[in-house]
Amino acid sequence: MSQILFDTPEQLAQGATDAFCDLAQAITQSGKRFRVALSGGSTPKRMNQILADRDLPWDQIDLFWGDERNVPHDHADSNYRMVCDTLLDALEKRGIKPGTYPVPVDVEDPAKAALAYESLIKQYLTSTPVPQFDLVLLGMGDDVHTASLFPGTKALEAADRLCVENWVEKLVTWRYTLTAEVINAASETWFVIAGAGKREAVRIAQSKQPNDPSMYPSQLIKPTRWLLTRDVVE
Ligand code: 6PG
Repeated sequence: MSQILFDTPEQLAQGATDAFCDLAQAITQSGKRFRVALSGGSTPKRMNQILADRDLPWDQIDLFWGDERNVPHDHADSNYRMVCDTLLDALEKRGIKPGTYPVPVDVEDPAKAALAYESLIKQYLTSTPVPQFDLVLLGMGDDVHTASLFPGTKALEAADRLCVENWVEKLVTWRYTLTAEVINAASETWFVIAGAGKREAVRIAQSKQPNDPSMYPSQLIKPTRWLLTRDVVE
């Protein structure tokens, strides 16, 4: 596991994009498709914008979502819409369309949508026993949640599942999330986190002090890389 610190959020976004591109090139040059689960929230936005200008073998790249909100894809809170706004629309203007596999949100039946997403993942990621993403990108909330694995929620105990619907009482809403099992099965799992506001959350996640994954879900994750702004750790 490695940790790379950047002086500013812009340098973090540039550095994370460089690392993404290096990995995507390595995987695709080996003759495989590059399958990545994108993070939601706001931190990835700048990275996505920089990525949109990069020359990659986009026709060999498949984009999935690490988590999603229980809203239509055109809703302001949708992680799919965020990725469209910051990456996919710009790629489309360049005549580029990577494989794009958003969560098939069903606002009225999130359990059905989670099972449908699971089937989709299994259709494209055939490795066993657990389908293996080449890269899972993650952010972290100041409550030490990641993806939509929130403290005290049922998704933390999901077994033999890849994606589940998750009722988040504190937000009074359903979410969709990859499970810790499939995140940890990925070849690479990177936390990309910016800002002093995340310092305590990252400290708890990294130190496991206190050690309580049900309260601090990021402790369930075995990341291969931390990409952080310097003020997160200093
Ligand atoms: C989401 C994310 C979530 C996010 C963290 C950090 O759907 O919101 O997947 O896990 O990564 O909440 O969010 P920020 O990047 O906005 O701080």
